[in-house]
Amino acid sequence: MSPTTFLDALHQEIQQTKYGLHPAELYDPIRYIMNLGGKRMRPLMTLMAAYLFEDNWQKALRPAVAVEVFHNFTLMHDDIMDQAPLRRGQPTVHEKWNHNIAILSGDVMLVNAYELLLDVETPHIKRVLARFNRTAAEVCEGQQLDMNFETRWDVCEDEYLEMIKLKTSVLLGFALELGGIIAGADEETTHLLYEGGVNIGLGFQLKDDLLDVYGDPAKFGKQVGGDIISNKKTFLLIEALQQAAGPLRDELTGWIARTEFDKAEKVQAVTRIYDQLGIRQLTEQRINNYFAKGFQNLEQIAVDPARKALLLDFAEQLIGRES
Ligand code: IPE
Ligand code: IPE
Ligand code: MG
Ligand code: MG
Ligand code: MG
Repeated sequence: MSPTTFLDALHQEIQQTKYGLHPAELYDPIRYIMNLGGKRMRPLMTLMAAYLFEDNWQKALRPAVAVEVFHNFTLMHDDIMDQAPLRRGQPTVHEKWNHNIAILSGDVMLVNAYELLLDVETPHIKRVLARFNRTAAEVCEGQQLDMNFETRWDVCEDEYLEMIKLKTSVLLGFALELGGIIAGADEETTHLLYEGGVNIGLGFQLKDDLLDVYGDPAKFGKQVGGDIISNKKTFLLIEALQQAAGPLRDELTGWIARTEFDKAEKVQAVTRIYDQLGIRQLTEQRINNYFAKGFQNLEQIAVDPARKALLLDFAEQLIGRES
């Protein structure tokens, strides 16, 4: 087995998925965002987790697509909230169509996700739906905290970690747990899958914060510097606010307080402050720590080492990702 086997099956399943037809303004944006690709890592994680315990991993395909559809719904709405112009190198849905269309298409994607989850076999469906519901509510909670933090100055690291756990990590945890549940893994094991996914998810969001500042615009696919422009309380900004002293601190707080500014100028100035404080290296260390924690969780699962290596190797590649 190789990761491309899973990825090919996933692509095929996504192509076959029916989101709806009429009116076109409601459904075209769904096909648009789903066909923009992306890494598709959450559904891949579901399939790889199922394969740990089950030769017939294909039975996790539609539920895996449900996770990807849900993820893309959160992106469609997140891009409105973050006023983001670009997603996967292309215009965001609210830019290409408009805000109302992005809201409503996103809403129906959540319904599509539930439709796909109905494929889960009867003995597991109730547990899966309960876990999915909890996860979906937590993503919204994290997104609200993310917005609340934009206008606060005193967000501490623990609050940040709670926020990213909710908006990002729990969905990675659920993606792995879902594969385990469908494949009939026991409770202790699905818990390890979840915890592993959450820790990898924390590292993953830290990397996302890092790429938002230091990513290569040609590869990143999103607007570089978006977090700086909107005063997102990322790990980088929280650390910089904690460490900066004297004139450097005044410069940083000056940029955060300014309501009228040239975007490129602000991004460049704040990035230079991060450079001076060594924030990049500090963030990289943290990323490695959380991924290592996640790998430790997954290592504890007693299954065929070759199957486990497939999942661990895939997750490890996310540390060095550029998009
Ligand atoms: C972006 O997720 C949103 C975050 C949680 C950081 P991905 O980086 O997985 O985006 P795609 O799906 O690959 O485009
Ligand atoms: C959003 O985090 C995570 C979601 C739940 C969508 P970001 O706002 O940092 O995600 P990107 O960078 O736009 O993909
Ligand atoms: Mg965003
Ligand atoms: Mg956001
Ligand atoms: Mg981001």
